[in-house]
Amino acid sequence: MAAAKPPASVVKRLVVLVSGSGTNLQALLDAIETTGTEEYGAEIVAVGADREGIEGLARAERAGLPTFVVRVKDHATREGWDAALAEAVADHRPDLVVSAGFMKIVGKEFLARFGGRFVNTHPALLPSFPGAHGVRDALAYGARVTGCTVHFVDDGVDTGPIIAQGVVEIRDEDDESALHERIKEVERRLLVDVVGRLARNGYRIEGRKVVIP
Ligand code: GRF
Repeated sequence: MAAAKPPASVVKRLVVLVSGSGTNLQALLDAIETTGTEEYGAEIVAVGADREGIEGLARAERAGLPTFVVRVKDHATREGWDAALAEAVADHRPDLVVSAGFMKIVGKEFLARFGGRFVNTHPALLPSFPGAHGVRDALAYGARVTGCTVHFVDDGVDTGPIIAQGVVEIRDEDDESALHERIKEVERRLLVDVVGRLARNGYRIEGRKVVIP
């Protein structure tokens, strides 16, 4: 007799946040489609953004997913924006929230609701080169290797517990865009792998260590 499939209820609900081209989002969509939601262990239930008109949202719409946009400029204060973002995400009852090229720092309210289940991907080997220009900064520093880091978000800038990292060599002829493209190839595979393992296996955060059994 074939092994029983796990019940659909074990499939974890993901909300993915984007600000740009959404190729990391696309990698998750493709992996879930190819693997199947039950085998992968998670499904994307909605995609949110901080701006309109981006390819990341178009990818979500093509996949038939609900989308939402919460713009900073539509709110009187940064705290108001943060609370509205938290509310919009909470509407979709996610188990995990994935920041896949989401170029905003969330605040207290968001972290109060989603801390410990908010995953970010960063295009450098943290704790080196945090912030918005991780690729450019590694190149300018003259580092010989860089890469990407998938980590939980805490209240610092790219300081939360590290889940997994991928290494990319820096070539003499690299400019920011060529290097970023090579990092993103590694980053997409890493994110797909990490999110699936978190969803299927569960995890514990012990101080700075993330344990995926
Ligand atoms: C990724 O390299 C991410 O780490 C960085 O922005 C890029 C997003 O790429 N913050 P995409 O929108 O998923 O194509």
